[in-house]
Amino acid sequence: KKTVDDINAKGKRVLVRCDFNVPLKNGQITDETRIVAALPTIKKLIADGGKVILCSHLGKVKNGPNEGESLAPVAVRLSEKLGQPVNFVADYNVTGEAATKAVEAMKDGDVVLLQNTRFRGAEETKNGEAFSKELADLADIYVCDAFGSSHRAHASVAGVTKFITAKGGENVVGYLMQKEIDFLGNAVENPVRPFVAILGGAKVADKLNVIANLLEKCDTLIIGGGMAYTFLKAKGYEVGTSLVDDEKIDYCKEMMAKADKLGKKLLLPVDTTIAAAFPNPIDAEIEVSAVDSDKIPADKMGLDIGPKTAELYADAVKSAKTVVWNGPMGVFENPILAKGTIAVAKSLAETDATTIIGGGDSAAAVNQLGFGDKMSHISTGGGASLEFLEGKELPGVMAADDK
Ligand code: 3PG
Repeated sequence: KKTVDDINAKGKRVLVRCDFNVPLKNGQITDETRIVAALPTIKKLIADGGKVILCSHLGKVKNGPNEGESLAPVAVRLSEKLGQPVNFVADYNVTGEAATKAVEAMKDGDVVLLQNTRFRGAEETKNGEAFSKELADLADIYVCDAFGSSHRAHASVAGVTKFITAKGGENVVGYLMQKEIDFLGNAVENPVRPFVAILGGAKVADKLNVIANLLEKCDTLIIGGGMAYTFLKAKGYEVGTSLVDDEKIDYCKEMMAKADKLGKKLLLPVDTTIAAAFPNPIDAEIEVSAVDSDKIPADKMGLDIGPKTAELYADAVKSAKTVVWNGPMGVFENPILAKGTIAVAKSLAETDATTIIGGGDSAAAVNQLGFGDKMSHISTGGGASLEFLEGKELPGVMAADDK
């Protein structure tokens, strides 16, 4: 793929699609990871002397454009990080006259941020062509650096490229996009072995294709979190009141048979931390105990992997050269039920292996537990990193190929 290193943006108008979909609370950014991750590309284009036009979506925008989902707070934070003004075009039309004028007034090295692309409903629809073209009309070069949005075939992510190509412009990927593709792509397609994949999270249903794909690619697949109980049930164990996805029991049986057939190790919890019920509120102090996985009492709920399992999983990580992790091992939001997730995070932090964390909950868990800077790569994509691990071709990644 062509990257920003293959272009010189001097004097050119460069449209950069970022993923500035950051969490906001009362108008304040509560996690700036995605903004920080976008800086290398933006700084390179500024250093080139390009006219840097940034765009992104924010939130779901279910009820039309509104100030609560404006990118204004992002413009402020970006400007602080870059140490230069970011001209925010607050117009809900995104590409309208205000945007055109702002771009016309740009000098080399200036930065403009357009309004939330989802304020134009066309962003998300199949009829987004006109909007794609309006975006392309603003620029000479398009840079896709929005890995977190690359599973969306949206106007500003994928649709725009063909209009850039039509006018003789170039489409390239940014540094963040490149880094994500390198780490996640190499891990799955070309891993240094042994390759251990760790999957957790609540539901088997959310990870069906990830389990199937990673089972083929890895040497050891480790299962934890809520979804482990469906596997344990499929093994014939009684799991009390633990979360079970009854419709997916056959699927779990199939995966266990597949692991045997392929000669892959599939590790399930040998013991589990149980309580009388799910904690309410989630961080409530509750009484827990650990039992072997085949001895969960009928009235108890499994909420974390047990201490023996934590040790078993940490040992598997020790022998790995590549580790991919997606999904917590238990209800990590509760300190009493975070021990399994902490043990796994610690084992990843201590190994010399390449360690890759899928975005979303796992990234949050690793950062919250203070292990963030110990990992080789933490993906900025939640849904996008999952679809990548499924082996899917992502529309944003495809479109970024200069065709
Ligand atoms: C994300 O946060 O996963 C991306 O920004 C995509 O957001 P979306 O799920 O609203 O499309």
